Amino acid sequence: MIKTLEWTDEGVMMIDQRLLPTEEIYPVFTTYEEVATAIREMVVRGAPAIGVAAAMGVALGARDSGTDDPAEFELTFDRICNVIGSTRPTAVNLFWAIERMRSLYSRLKDEGSTLGEIRTALIDEAKGMHDEDIEINRSMGRFGAELIPDGATVLTHCNAGALATAGYGTALGVIRAAIEAGKKVAVFADETRPFLQGARLTAWELQKDDIPVTLITDNMAGHFMKKGQIDCVVVGADRIAANGDVANKIGTYSVAVLAKENNIPFYVAAPISTLDLTLASGDLIPIEERNQEEVTHVKGAQLAPAGIRIANPAFDVTPNKYVAAIITERGVARPPFQESLRKLADN
Ligand code: MRU
Repeated sequence: MIKTLEWTDEGVMMIDQRLLPTEEIYPVFTTYEEVATAIREMVVRGAPAIGVAAAMGVALGARDSGTDDPAEFELTFDRICNVIGSTRPTAVNLFWAIERMRSLYSRLKDEGSTLGEIRTALIDEAKGMHDEDIEINRSMGRFGAELIPDGATVLTHCNAGALATAGYGTALGVIRAAIEAGKKVAVFADETRPFLQGARLTAWELQKDDIPVTLITDNMAGHFMKKGQIDCVVVGADRIAANGDVANKIGTYSVAVLAKENNIPFYVAAPISTLDLTLASGDLIPIEERNQEEVTHVKGAQLAPAGIRIANPAFDVTPNKYVAAIITERGVARPPFQESLRKLADN
């Protein structure tokens, strides 16, 4: 099984996703500041994995805060949460995970727990969120597998796999579950410019699991859809608004429009923690703008003239009208999403 991240006594161990597929190394991040930098610089990425890394970073900072004074601990704990919360703005799982750690701390403090007890409980919570995420993905996979026809070729964008989660994956979890259920499934993976999560990560993890995968550049998707070679699209999500609008990796919107034009179902697989029902629509989702070098350079090689003006939004929003279903660990939501998502969230 692919190990994305793990709690160790020395700190948080994570596979360095920036180096895949050519190098597979597992550095340990020994302070909460290092974990924050690892999230910002995409050592770890993918909404659920970011959430688990954030929780582990908070636990690490709390464990090593080196104070026995509860008031001082509280200030430090708040600072740790704020530093980790300022790393990446779009994936709501980051904020969901930090909020879960904050509310555990508040509850234990109110109950009169000692700092030692609080520190232990925060570590246990972060470790628990890791294992829980894998269970959630397996459950999502079981629901999603029913939507994948036997013999299907599935197009996916970015990496919503084991590497984007604590393990198994969301979109790729659905594919893995369909295969485990005995279906024959093949995958087309968009390379996903500019950060190449499809080429570097999805291709790597599917190949490792012997799942048939064909890598294509992003601009080839329409061609294969029109030729009848794609049966459905399954992608992950970074944040889903109350009306079912979906923020996911830049380029997802174009894939969804192409799928609609070609009468191909477009599915989103995401845990309940990716829902942000406080936002009425996707227009309110903050979109991260990343550095220019991701567009002008690939692995240090310059592709564009120096000084060229660059835009690099890391995510886009797919309007709900393009989404056939949202697959969660509690079941499959169908339009109208306003009601179906609320129902699943309240479950
Ligand atoms: O910038 P990234 O690599 O963190 O973006 C990842 C995605 O957009 C994924 O599709 C999304 O987080 C879902 S991962 C299960």
